Amino acid sequence: MSIYVFDAYGTLFDVHAAIAKFNAEAGPDGARMSEIWRGKQLEYTWTLTLAGHYTEFWTLTERALDFALARVPSVPKALKQRLLDAYFKLDAFPDARAALRALKQKGDKTGILSNGSPNMLKGAVDAAGIGGDLDAVLSVDVLKMFKPRPEVYRLVNEHYRCAAGDVTFVSSNRWDVMAGVSVGFRGLWVNRGKMPDEYLDFPPAKTLADLSSLASSA
Ligand code: LAC
Repeated sequence: MSIYVFDAYGTLFDVHAAIAKFNAEAGPDGARMSEIWRGKQLEYTWTLTLAGHYTEFWTLTERALDFALARVPSVPKALKQRLLDAYFKLDAFPDARAALRALKQKGDKTGILSNGSPNMLKGAVDAAGIGGDLDAVLSVDVLKMFKPRPEVYRLVNEHYRCAAGDVTFVSSNRWDVMAGVSVGFRGLWVNRGKMPDEYLDFPPAKTLADLSSLASSA
């Protein structure tokens, strides 16, 4: 039995699925707006945590969208509420769904460790219908600080009452893998975007193109 813990946004849930629902109305700059939205959302978590503050992830997601829509004026601001509603119920990647199912069938433990606030994680897990294949959904919200603070990753060890080395941590965010590896997890990087490697002092045990081979190979 192994313990697999997944990042949520970008790893199990497709953060660009929201804009994809409104491609026609958003126009040609929709993808750029969505990239800025995601980038700002993460930047806010880092800057607030560094400054010793915390505002829950859903509020930061909304503020980041306001910024992105202001930055890319060709995308109609009237889409804001529909984009937020879609983000609350983001689609899971099909390979993520299959990987969770296969791990559970093997008898492994599965969980989420995410910046997401508990209600938005519940919204996404319910919408994706993956709750039955997850043993735990852990949110940073109990600590009021965001990734990559090490305290956040230790929530996993407290929950499963296990050593860091017993945990395989799976994330599509290379900085998140860095932080997991630095607390002693076995890190798996899901490099969906074919990005160059970074954080070379904290290498993943394995890099996967997506989650389709996870249960059989990792
Ligand atoms: C999360 C962000 C990092 O789910 O995507 O924690």
